[in-house]
Amino acid sequence: MTNEILPRDGLAFFLYRSMAVPGLGESDLAEIVAVARARNQATGLTGCLHYEDGLFFQWLEGPAPDLWRVVDSIRRDPRHRELTVLEQGPLAGRRFQSWRMRFSDRDHASLMDWFAGKGVSTVDPSVYAGNVASFLVRAAG
Ligand SMILES: Cc1cc2nc3c(=O)[nH]c(=O)nc-3n(C[C@H](O)[C@H](O)[C@H](O)COP(=O)(O)O)c2cc1C
Repeated sequence: MTNEILPRDGLAFFLYRSMAVPGLGESDLAEIVAVARARNQATGLTGCLHYEDGLFFQWLEGPAPDLWRVVDSIRRDPRHRELTVLEQGPLAGRRFQSWRMRFSDRDHASLMDWFAGKGVSTVDPSVYAGNVASFLVRAAG
């Protein structure tokens, strides 16, 4: 799943799940999204962040060197932990062209309900990753 050679140039994407640290509140979320949008605007990244039941799911896409730099920052960010890469690699075309960082939460669309409704297996990692990606694209639509 995550053993592929990562692209050094061209368009690439990074999809992960992480756990918010306990006590992370609305204002922290707003701050994360505001900084993400400003930096993504400056670096040409686009994507989507979904927050539900203390979990973050994020799809981030853009030119490879800039993307990996921001991913390094995100990995070091103490506001979340247990970051699990669901999928990453080269990308033919952007999925969130017009979003510096779309934000959604379960008030907007529930990933868990969507999984349950579709009867999606969350056991097979590649099936899980594909379904998280589909959900994020749908939630943005
Ligand atoms: C769940 C989560 C998602 C984030 N998404 C982004 C993002 O899309 N773009 C971004 O620039 N920073 C994002 N950040 C913030 C970065 O971790 C980091 O704080 C910010 O880029 C500033 O980087 P620096 O501390 O290395 O200067 C995110 C943080 C968290 C916790």
